Amino acid sequence: MTRLLEVPTDKVPAPGSRSLIHHEGGCVVLFNQDGALYALDDACPHNGASLFCGRLQGRLLQCPAHGLRFDLASGRVPGVTGFGATTYALEERQGRLFIDLSRRRAEECLP
Ligand code: FES
Repeated sequence: MTRLLEVPTDKVPAPGSRSLIHHEGGCVVLFNQDGALYALDDACPHNGASLFCGRLQGRLLQCPAHGLRFDLASGRVPGVTGFGATTYALEERQGRLFIDLSRRRAEECLP
């Protein structure tokens, strides 16, 4: 079943910024990296720290708790298989932005 979460207009991040979107099951961090939008679950898969305050280096997000780095597009830790942050697909419909909580972003990974 599709679970769409609408992003309020004032929560759509400008290039180089991020926003936190709350929903009944948790929080999603929305990043605008060089004009591309990425949605990740805010809870780090290692120990649950908030990824919202993580440091970005290009498309790699570093968890503020223990330093694991996640690719914004795939959620993966480069060089590690079977472990990563949860990503979500984004959809634009009639000028409105939605996070699809039932679907991960299409696979894409840094080398
Ligand atoms: S909680 Fe994120 S790396 Fe440990």
